[in-house]
Amino acid sequence: MKLPVYLDNSATTPMDPLVLEAMLPYFLENFGNASSRSHVYGWTAEEAVDIGRQQVAELIGAHPTEIVFTSGATESINLAIKGVFENSGGKGNHMITCVTEHQAVLDTCAWIEQNGGHVTYLPVSKEGLVDLNDLEKAITDRTLVISIMYANNETGTIQPIQEISAIARKHDVLFFSDATQAVGKIPVDVEKDGIDLLSISAHKLYGPKGIGALYVRRKNPKVVISSQIHGGRHEKNMRSGTLNVPGIVGFGKACELCQNELDGATTAIKYLRDKLESELLKLAGTYVNGSQENRLPHITNMSFDAVNGENLLLEICREVAASRGSACSSVTTRPSHVLKALGLSDSMALSSFRFSLGRFTTLSEIEESYRIITEIIEKHRIALKLSAASN
Ligand SMILES: Cc1ncc(COP(=O)(O)O)c(C=O)c1O
Repeated sequence: MKLPVYLDNSATTPMDPLVLEAMLPYFLENFGNASSRSHVYGWTAEEAVDIGRQQVAELIGAHPTEIVFTSGATESINLAIKGVFENSGGKGNHMITCVTEHQAVLDTCAWIEQNGGHVTYLPVSKEGLVDLNDLEKAITDRTLVISIMYANNETGTIQPIQEISAIARKHDVLFFSDATQAVGKIPVDVEKDGIDLLSISAHKLYGPKGIGALYVRRKNPKVVISSQIHGGRHEKNMRSGTLNVPGIVGFGKACELCQNELDGATTAIKYLRDKLESELLKLAGTYVNGSQENRLPHITNMSFDAVNGENLLLEICREVAASRGSACSSVTTRPSHVLKALGLSDSMALSSFRFSLGRFTTLSEIEESYRIITEIIEKHRIALKLSAASN
């Protein structure tokens, strides 16, 4: 068994070897530019992009023409939110989001505020869910878009997406969902879910880093956004720049594999996640954060009472690669804004860990993980008690 055991799949997933295999020819022999229309190198690349686009679209129930390739979810989020605002034509200047969004959404919202827009940040319940009455009440005749993530990256909590989209539709407001953690892990269907804009990232679903997509609805309603990167008018002039052909091939293959494995893999991963969780819950003073009913199958976020979170992380990380929150904020010692929004104290938030499993996680890795974590926490608590007694 390779140590440390990798339980940080929400930060990034290892690439599936089948994805790498599909990509390799597009670095060497099939190196063409997908926009080159005058020779076979370009046609081959374009064909590969078309297949990738189809595979990505299929995973989310979209039409291929609704997929705009980007460098990842952060760019997709910026394009969706800024793109809607800059295209508002004076129709409005307000948006609604929630306090537990990923930093990519929150920082883009801050940019909107600095540029003349208004943002309402909805609170969440102890379970991490937005209140639908609060949401509806926050809508004004100046509201352009509701931006609520599909599932949270720290706790895995899944928002009531179809209810949110019904409210958005009723008030003629667009609905953007950051589905970076959900796509490939649970069924996501932009039609059934009533989503108008949706962000995805390949490296969260066993594809390569540096490639992602924004879904942009083409009818009922047709969504029009302003481009944020100008140049050669690629991607229907929504995102200029030479297409990352190997990345798109890998992204497409990764989506195809997720689609084929969705049911089986979900059951297996959930079984292992529940096993890890129930074994760790045997330790006194241990809690699970966020909704346990509406939750992604591969994440558990757990708090451990009576420990020093910082020291614990340092000890655990030698043998189990987990994290204290999102990868973007794992270097900070500030408590997670997500856990604080659920009502956790600073010290409890700092003593919380996200364990996220993946397609390649095995039962023996999970058994080893809870054995190690239990041992470290028990040792750690005894040491803390001894030092408190001697002071
Ligand atoms: C919910 C969520 N949104 C957005 C992102 C950013 O994705 P990317 O790394 O593709 O820019 C992440 C990655 O951690 C995420 O978990």
